[in-house]
Amino acid sequence: MNLRLLALLLVLSKFANAADDVTTRYQTSCTTCHGTDVYTSTKRRITSFDALERQVNRCTLALSLRWSNNEVHDVSAYLNQRFYHFPR
Ligand code: HEC
Repeated sequence: MNLRLLALLLVLSKFANAADDVTTRYQTSCTTCHGTDVYTSTKRRITSFDALERQVNRCTLALSLRWSNNEVHDVSAYLNQRFYHFPR
């Protein structure tokens, strides 16, 4: 196999793993109190990506999870991509 292709595959599989981590993290910690309906409800309160990150952080604190800023950011980006679609 040509080296450039191999390098590309490695990069892609790393991305796939990162995406899996975020999904697993989210599924494990974030689905006990509320479902995805709070993200799509017409009464949802979050109106910007910043606010989304703050809320995700609040929810991790409520769980006594010790997520790094990166982890909060990744899950916020995941929710934004799936539900909120705020410009960033
Ligand atoms: C301990 C219970 C609990 C857990 C676990 C929890 N949340 Fe929440 N979350 C809440 C409550 C309560 C609200 C406010 C709900 C409402 O506005 O009806 C909320 C609201 C939110 C909102 C805002 C919804 C909106 O647009 O108004 C987001 C985003 C959110 N949670 C993300 C998360 C994420 C990400 C996780 C995993 C880290 C998580 N939550 C885990 C309790 C929880």
